[in-house]
Amino acid sequence: MAKRPFVAGNWKMHGTRAELGNITHVSIETETIDEVLVALCVPATLITRAVAASPGFLIGAQDIHHEPKGAFTGSVSAQMVKDAGAKLTIVGHSERRELLGETNAQVRAKAELAIDAGLKTILCVGESLAVRETGQALNFVGDQLDASLPDMVTAPIHLSIAYEPIWAIGTGKVPSAGDIEAMHARIREVLERRYGEGAASIRILYGGSVKGSNAADIFAIDGVDGALVGGASLAPDDFMPIVHAAAAAAKD
Ligand code: PGA
Repeated sequence: MAKRPFVAGNWKMHGTRAELGNITHVSIETETIDEVLVALCVPATLITRAVAASPGFLIGAQDIHHEPKGAFTGSVSAQMVKDAGAKLTIVGHSERRELLGETNAQVRAKAELAIDAGLKTILCVGESLAVRETGQALNFVGDQLDASLPDMVTAPIHLSIAYEPIWAIGTGKVPSAGDIEAMHARIREVLERRYGEGAASIRILYGGSVKGSNAADIFAIDGVDGALVGGASLAPDDFMPIVHAAAAAAKD
């Protein structure tokens, strides 16, 4: 792996105070694993407690609103999650795009706000099964990314892209190594067209049914710089083997 791998967990709508021990467990175990950047994106309600329980460990939010502030009942802003102690946020997860109708323009606005706030940002893209079956996945994801990326005048050093095929999320299905490699190459092309040399620092993560059992194979694919992990990030016994696989890949 050319870059220091980044493995981020996405807890989704799971986790209360009772699960804080899982975060401290991962935080302590990863302290000595310098080869990998590790983060957990927890529910907004847990951010402050997670940061207090695991100082120095990278705690993230799962989303922010696309406006900086205002009358948006129930939403949280980039500045709010930062104030709570988050150092990063996910934007554009397919569960928000699909279930809540979030648009590329909104995702782009979120990414701009997150980067402006100094948050590391994981911007998610990915195609549905229907799109994959039409053979248009590369074009679809390339266009989706292009429309979701903020304009940058300087290198967007806080940005990672997560390629997450919707049909692979939580299903146990994973695209072939060739399909992942081709998609990551397309994403890299779009990044280079948009940011020139600034694209070099941007990691491209794979997400969708990453587990301890398939992580080494995924990290061996050309162009994969890490993983965004849902279900397998909830329990340290499932998550740590993925981190170790990334550390092993980084040493190769
Ligand atoms: P999964 O989710 O690892 O449970 O498939 C990935 C994601 O949605 O980020």
